[in-house]
Parts: sequence; C-alpha cells; structure tokens
Amino acid sequence: MKLVLVEGDITEQRVDAIVNAANSSLMGGGGVDGAIHRRGGPEILEECRALRASRYGRGLPVGAAVATTAGRLPARWVIHTVGPVYSRSEDRSHLLASCYRESLHVADSLGASTVAFPAVSTGIYRWPMADAARIALAAIRHAGSSVTEVRFVLFSPAAYADFEQALGDMG
Ligand code: APR
Repeated sequence: MKLVLVEGDITEQRVDAIVNAANSSLMGGGGVDGAIHRRGGPEILEECRALRASRYGRGLPVGAAVATTAGRLPARWVIHTVGPVYSRSEDRSHLLASCYRESLHVADSLGASTVAFPAVSTGIYRWPMADAARIALAAIRHAGSSVTEVRFVLFSPAAYADFEQALGDMG
C-alpha cells in the first residue's frame, strides 16, 4: 500500500472513495462534513437519511464507517466515519484507530483501490494533530487492507508538517 500526503481540499480528490469526518446523526455539519455535502449535492444526504431509516436508526456509532454515493464529487463513494471527541481524561485512541480501520474495511468491500482521508477528529473534535497523525498512520499500516493508495489530504501546512513528521518517525 502506498501512503501519500497532500495539502489540499478533500472534495477535489480524484480517488475511488473519500472519507468524511461525520457525526453519528449522518445529517451533515461543519468542517469536512459541510464541504462534502455542499459540493457533493443532495444525493449524499438522501442516502444518509435512508441509512438512518434502516441500518442505523440510532445513528452511526463512534469508530464505525458506512458508504454512500459521492454525488457530484469526482470520487465514486463517500465513506462516512465518526471520530471520537478528544478527551484529556479518557484515552479514546482505539476509537480513532477504528475509524481508519473500519473505513478501509468498507473500501475493501466496495472494491475501492484509492482512498483519501482527512485528519479525522482534529477540527471540531479537537484532537491534537501530531497525536492524531501518529494514530492514523499506525492504524492504516496495520489494517491489512487491499487498498493500493491511501492519500491523506491535510488542510493546512501545519497539519501536513505533523503528518510528515509522524510518517518519518514510523520509518
Ligand atoms: N478538506 C480536507 N480537510 C479539511 C477540509 C477539507 N475540505 N475542511 C476541514 N478540514 C480539516 C480540518 O482542518 C481538520 O484538520 O479536517 C480535519 C477534521 O475537522 P472537522 O471537519 O472539524 O472534523 P472533526 O474534528 O472530526 O469533527 C467532526 O464536525 O463537521 C462536524 O458533522 C461533523 O460533528 C462532526 C464534527
């Protein structure tokens, strides 16, 4: 598996699937979630509503992932995952790692070979970037997925630098 870091906007990526840092409601929000729904159009929300009416009546659990169409985006699918809110008093790293593992599992089941991820939980959910980068890269390395390219799309030079450092530390 090739691991690639880019600075940019995930909604512009030409990959099979992009991952959304969603919330359990699957009904949209700010940050990446807002951008994906805005640029992807209403078809994505329609599928999210259908998922809430069927498999996920109580919402998508933290650490889980599910796919919908990508609507008008260049990607074919959006894989929605729900990151944990960062906590200083409780270690929720396993839930953040699970987001990456489960998203790749969904990608495998779709037959997606290229997948782009944002830095899940590092915005509104306040996870420190360097720590999130370390957890994300380790989870992906150990996921045992058939995906051939994982692209991290970092939204700022600082986020890019943290991921570059974490990738270097991993060797
Ligand atoms: N492309 C790539 N990365 C982006 C983009 C974009 N278009 N927009 C924001 N980001 C970055 C942020 O800078 C941050 O580093 O994505 C990372 C994740 O931030 P959030 O989108 O705030 O996601 P998260 O911290 O997981 O919080 C999830 O936010 O939008 C709501 O509905 C969502 O309630 C949920 C919560």
